[in-house]
Amino acid sequence: MDRIKIIGGNRLNGVISISGAKNAALPLMIASLLTDDVLTLEGVPYLADVEQLVRILGNHGVDYSVNGRREHQSGSYSRTMHFSARHIVTTTAPYDLVSKMRASFWVIGPLLARMGKAEVSLPGGCAIGTRPVDFILDGLRALGTDINIENGYAHARARKGLQGTQYTFPKVTVGGTHVMLMAASLARGDTVLHNAACEPEVVNLAECLNLMGARIAGAGTPEIRISGVGSLSGARVKVISDRIETGTYAMAVAMTGGDVLLEGAESSLLHSVLQTLQKTGVSVVESADGIRIRCNGHAIEPVNIETRPFPGFPTDLQAQFMGLMTRANGISRITETIFENRFMHVQELARLGARISLSGQTATIEGVERLQGAQVMATDLRASVSLVIAGLVAEGETVISRIYHLDRGFERLEEKLFNCGAQIERVRG
Ligand code: EPZ
Repeated sequence: MDRIKIIGGNRLNGVISISGAKNAALPLMIASLLTDDVLTLEGVPYLADVEQLVRILGNHGVDYSVNGRREHQSGSYSRTMHFSARHIVTTTAPYDLVSKMRASFWVIGPLLARMGKAEVSLPGGCAIGTRPVDFILDGLRALGTDINIENGYAHARARKGLQGTQYTFPKVTVGGTHVMLMAASLARGDTVLHNAACEPEVVNLAECLNLMGARIAGAGTPEIRISGVGSLSGARVKVISDRIETGTYAMAVAMTGGDVLLEGAESSLLHSVLQTLQKTGVSVVESADGIRIRCNGHAIEPVNIETRPFPGFPTDLQAQFMGLMTRANGISRITETIFENRFMHVQELARLGARISLSGQTATIEGVERLQGAQVMATDLRASVSLVIAGLVAEGETVISRIYHLDRGFERLEEKLFNCGAQIERVRG
């Protein structure tokens, strides 16, 4: 298994190009199931999760090409991908595919809308929490679907087709909002979603669906109105830039000191994060090319945060911010409110010399002057990149194992950091 080796101590200087957002690309790819026409997505990142979803969609009969060629010919860079679900060959999403990536459960929405039925394996728990799908199923039931859970599968039937509805999410759910947007777009009549997720990835999906012929208003606010249409066509859509990747590299620069332009980054996608970084003493300057992060290597000020749905501080940057706070000039507190088990990085950061104590959903971090290199283990995608951030300043060598987690969500991470002066390499095997 590949590992990442880092020798800490170098500042980051230069330009990092921000990729298309994984969490936008995935639902956009799934939306291709809604039409027999071609959906073209620009700026799809080259990531393990994207490749896995390509396989999952392939199981349903979705054909794809990359800039007119097959994937292995295209190189490992963000690319334009064309998806064609002309013939859906099966409405069953089996356990061995869905269990590898939770977002694949979302195929239930477009399959129901287009085919009137779907049999989708329940995704099960994952490292960061139990992550149920009950609100997704309740929302689909409100649209007129019969759903039985049998042998670990959700068997969904909409015998009379989907019917517009009013649905209030009991808790903000990104995936639930994606699924309901896709399903309601092809339902008869109007649907109103209350307490919908406002995340930029939801807006990207809604804009894509509208380009395909859907009638959606209010995406980006908690109330979304969808007037169902009879069919959807193809479209060409750009994947938004990855706000989590942006925040991750901004925190890396804050950690090491230096001066980096995050090219293609959009500040409107992560105001709360940039404001938090400014409070730590980092310079954040927006420009036409992206966001420039500068830090002269002075001590970072401690800042308390609480994760929240958008526009609050994202849970997907909580681990990285904790990595940064391990070197802050004092005590900070981080409260995780979205997932119940998203502190697995704490023990690994402690191996690097961090002082963190946990009480319920709150971590208290006492900043230390030095971190020391050690062998550590990646436990999930965002947790593992917090170890990279810490490793960049730890004295000596840090070796991170199980980096397949990183490959799920960070495109060419070691190359991007190496080009800005980090001593980082992938050790194969
Ligand atoms: C999306 O997951 C992201 N994944 C996650 O990113 C992100 O952490 C999360 O949203 C929150 O922002 C993708 O976009 C592919 P949720 P999702 O439904 O949609 C509870 C990463 O690292 N809930 O918004 O699955 C749930 O358990 C990943 O890139 C229910 O209780 O998250 C959680 O506590 C990790 N019942 C909360 O809602 C439901 O039916 C928010 O989850 C659905 C959700």
